[in-house]
Amino acid sequence: MKTVLITGANRGLGLEHARRFAASGATVYAGVRDPGKADELQALAKNSSGKVVVFTYDARRADAAANARNAVGGAPLDLLFANAGVIGGDHQKLGDIAADDFAETLQVNTVAPLLLASALLDAVAASEKKVIAFQSSIMGSNADSASPHYYAYRASKAALNKIASTMAVDLKARGITVVTLHPGWVRTDMGGPSADISVEQSVDGQQKIFAGLSLEQSGRFFSYDGKPIAW
Ligand SMILES: NC(=O)c1ccc[n+]([C@@H]2O[C@H](COP(=O)([O-])OP(=O)(O)OC[C@H]3O[C@@H](n4cnc5c(N)ncnc54)[C@H](OP(=O)(O)O)[C@@H]3O)[C@@H](O)[C@H]2O)c1
Repeated sequence: MKTVLITGANRGLGLEHARRFAASGATVYAGVRDPGKADELQALAKNSSGKVVVFTYDARRADAAANARNAVGGAPLDLLFANAGVIGGDHQKLGDIAADDFAETLQVNTVAPLLLASALLDAVAASEKKVIAFQSSIMGSNADSASPHYYAYRASKAALNKIASTMAVDLKARGITVVTLHPGWVRTDMGGPSADISVEQSVDGQQKIFAGLSLEQSGRFFSYDGKPIAW
C-alpha cells in the first residue's frame, strides 16, 4: 500500500496501523479528533519527512468526511481504513438505554464511516490497490450470541457490516475491494487489560490481510487471523 488513510490513528489499533504503514514507507493520512493531543502520532509525523499527514477527523461532526477529502487532496488512496469507533457508553442494558448515547454511537461507528467512504470513492478508485476496510466487531455478527447487553455497540457494528457488504456489491464494477474486519478482543483502552490479544498481534494479522487482499475477497468479513466470520 503506497497511500493509506486511517481514522482513530492517535491510539490503540489505529496508531499501531499508522506506525506500521509509515515504517513500510507509505504516505499515511491520519485522522484524529484532536491533533493537539495526539502526541505519539505527532512524533511519528515529525520524523516522517512529511509522509504522515495528521488531519482533524471527529466522526460526530458534519465536516469529518470533507476534512478527510481535503487532507488527501487529489492523491490516489490505496487503502481507506475506517477504524475509529466507540463502545457506546454505560447505558446499554435492557431497562437502561440512553437514546442520546445510542444515536451518537450510530453516528460515530456507522454513519460517519459510510460518509467517509462515500466522499473518498474517487480517490480509492484512482489508486492501484483500491481497498476500503471497515473496522467492525464480531459483536455486530448475528451469528454471535456469546454475551448480552451492548445494544448500541452491537447495532452500530451490525449496520456497519450491512453497509460494507452492500458497498462491496456497488463497487465491484469499479474494481474496489471492500472488506469488514474484526480485530479480535484486543488490549486497548476499549478492549481493556483482560482482553485476549495484544495490539501488535491484532495489527500483525490485519496487516497480513491487507497485503493479501484481492477483489475476489470483496464483501467478506475477516477476523484478524484471516478466518472468515459469519454475518
Ligand atoms: N479493542 C477491541 O477488543 C476491539 C474489538 C472489536 C472491535 N474493535 C474496534 O476497533 C476500532 C479501534 O478500537 P481500539 O480498540 O483501538 O479502541 P481505542 O483504543 O478506544 O481507540 C478508539 C479510537 O477511536 C477514536 N474515536 C472515538 N470517538 C471518535 C470520534 N467521535 N471521532 C473520531 N475518532 C474517534 C479515538 O479517538 P480519541 O482518542 O479522540 O477518543 C481512538 O483513536 C473500533 O472501531 C472498535 O470498535 C475493537
